[in-house]
Amino acid sequence: MAEVTWGLATSHVPSIGAAMDRGKTDDPNWKALFDGYAPARAWLAEHRPDVAIVVYNDHANGIDLDFIPTFGLGTAERYEVADEGFGRRPVPDVLGHPELSFHLVESLVDEGFDLTVFQELAVDHGFTVPLSVWTPDPGDAWPCPVIPLLVNVIQYPQPTAARCYALGQALGRAIRSYPEDLTVGVLGTGGMSHQLAGTRAGFINPDFDSMWMQAIETDPARLAAMSREELIRQAGSEGIELIMWLVMRGAMDERITKVHSDYFVPASNTAAGIALFDNRPPSA
Ligand code: DHB
Ligand code: FE
Repeated sequence: MAEVTWGLATSHVPSIGAAMDRGKTDDPNWKALFDGYAPARAWLAEHRPDVAIVVYNDHANGIDLDFIPTFGLGTAERYEVADEGFGRRPVPDVLGHPELSFHLVESLVDEGFDLTVFQELAVDHGFTVPLSVWTPDPGDAWPCPVIPLLVNVIQYPQPTAARCYALGQALGRAIRSYPEDLTVGVLGTGGMSHQLAGTRAGFINPDFDSMWMQAIETDPARLAAMSREELIRQAGSEGIELIMWLVMRGAMDERITKVHSDYFVPASNTAAGIALFDNRPPSA
């Protein structure tokens, strides 16, 4: 039986990846953000899973804007790193886990989540930046095979927070019904509050982010009850990316143990958050 051993929530701001790729992590603008990652990275280095699932959104780099699946899942052997206009990031391509992917597609469709299936997919900063937050120096390969789970957060109507939480709960059941003994890490990506355009460009809401950071651990149902309009009002038009944290949270147990969290403003235009949770029983 496979099991979810940890969950990692993290922002995916592209300039976090660029700062790493260009050796700027010790610059005064960036140092505090990367220092805030250190305890999570150290713990994760000691808890390498057999497979990871990254819940993320594409930003019209891997998928044309004419086709917006509400939810999608990758089944490929390998995912290329997308070129977002400045050349590909100097990080490894991603090896997938088709066997677990097919099991997840089957289980989730059976539960009523009619996913779009990606047999081919280039992954953008929404995916590669969280991998870099986890593993700053991957060398030739990321620590384990990784499966992309896509959520539309960029085009109205995005799925509701409640639907994302329910998808996460179904994902957790799907993982636990996989016959092989695998440990699985789940990443929920995006957020925290930010708005990139319009009259509220630059909007950040630390009070809301602080509430979200606490409730994602102890009261996710409260977050799942929020409407998309309320989320955008409180977190900004791109802050709605936070619904992807609820997919990660839904896949975990009701009671989880926080390993580390940190909050940094601003990373580019965004309030950057990280939260790492251990899903094993406290005695383990
Ligand atoms: C920024 C944040 C994002 O979530 C994103 O996808 C692109 C850019 C930013 O703050 O610059
Ligand atoms: Fe984004």
